[in-house]
Amino acid sequence: MNISKEAILKKGFVDLELDAQLDLFAEIERLKKQKNAIILAHYYQEPDIQDVADYIGDSLGLAQKAEQTDADVIVFAGVHFMAETAKILNPNKKVLLPDLNAGCSLADSAPADLFKAFKDKNPDHLVVSYINCSADIKALSDIICTSGNAEAIIASIPKDQPIIFAPDRNLGAYLNKITGRNMLLWNGACMVHEIFSLEKITKLKIRHPKAKLISHPECEEAILRISDYVGSTTQLLKYTLTDPTQEYIVATETGILHQMQQNNPNKTFIPAPPTNNCACNDCPHMKLNTLEKLYLCMQYEQPEITMDENLRIAAKKPMDRMLAISRAAGLIG
Ligand code: 13P
Ligand code: SF4
Repeated sequence: MNISKEAILKKGFVDLELDAQLDLFAEIERLKKQKNAIILAHYYQEPDIQDVADYIGDSLGLAQKAEQTDADVIVFAGVHFMAETAKILNPNKKVLLPDLNAGCSLADSAPADLFKAFKDKNPDHLVVSYINCSADIKALSDIICTSGNAEAIIASIPKDQPIIFAPDRNLGAYLNKITGRNMLLWNGACMVHEIFSLEKITKLKIRHPKAKLISHPECEEAILRISDYVGSTTQLLKYTLTDPTQEYIVATETGILHQMQQNNPNKTFIPAPPTNNCACNDCPHMKLNTLEKLYLCMQYEQPEITMDENLRIAAKKPMDRMLAISRAAGLIG
């Protein structure tokens, strides 16, 4: 099967039919070796992708892994801003994303021109941006953070320094609460983490009185307020490993349940219910990647992430600051 780069960029892999006999797991392993490729996957990817990945992690772990790898090709099974982050840190490596349309509603909620105007109105503010943003927003920022290091990043900034926090208003409000700061918040949010129903979770808690509610800080304040633990995906997973509770209601994207269940086969994990009956707590962007697309992107080395070099250099500075502060705080090795 031959297909041009232009065709892949235009149509993606949707029209390609794969031989049903193909063992995709074996083929992907073969391609990894052949191309000296590493597969980095976020916890929100479908279970098959998690199972073939060389590393699965939260945004902080993935950024660190992308920074340290000596592979020639980074296959990023996640969304666009994550693959872009890997490219920012690795200009000389080929970075592939199985589906170029895998975006992020949160990153999209901060268009660079509007954000620049907002920043210009507050020139005395330092800009801390959550990693879930475009390279353009990173380039307009002073420091990047993830949900795994945000508290340490904020703590590293003098208390009298005014801060703009973007783009997630829920994470920003949560950080204001736990750090006592009064950061100016950009009004963005994640479509998946805003969908959880307080009413249905409350009823679920009544039916499962011993279950703990564990939540991602991208959730709304009302959910976080009744949560037993709040953390990044890696922190939530680690919590379930050390905490003695047997049952959890999990308020984040459902993909993480695969690792939680594998690591705790005797515990029960219940996805927190959304406000309606659709599978809205599945991230539609993350789930655009499939095992088939992963295989094809490795085979054809497309779609590839490319970036203007001046933009990359500007976006790397706040990333480097984040990694340095995270190292100093002992959050990464
Ligand atoms: P973390 O995995 O860093 O907690 O981020 C969650 C997320 O929303 C990624 O899109
Ligand atoms: Fe973006 Fe939310 Fe999907 Fe994460 S879960 S990629 S923040 S839309």
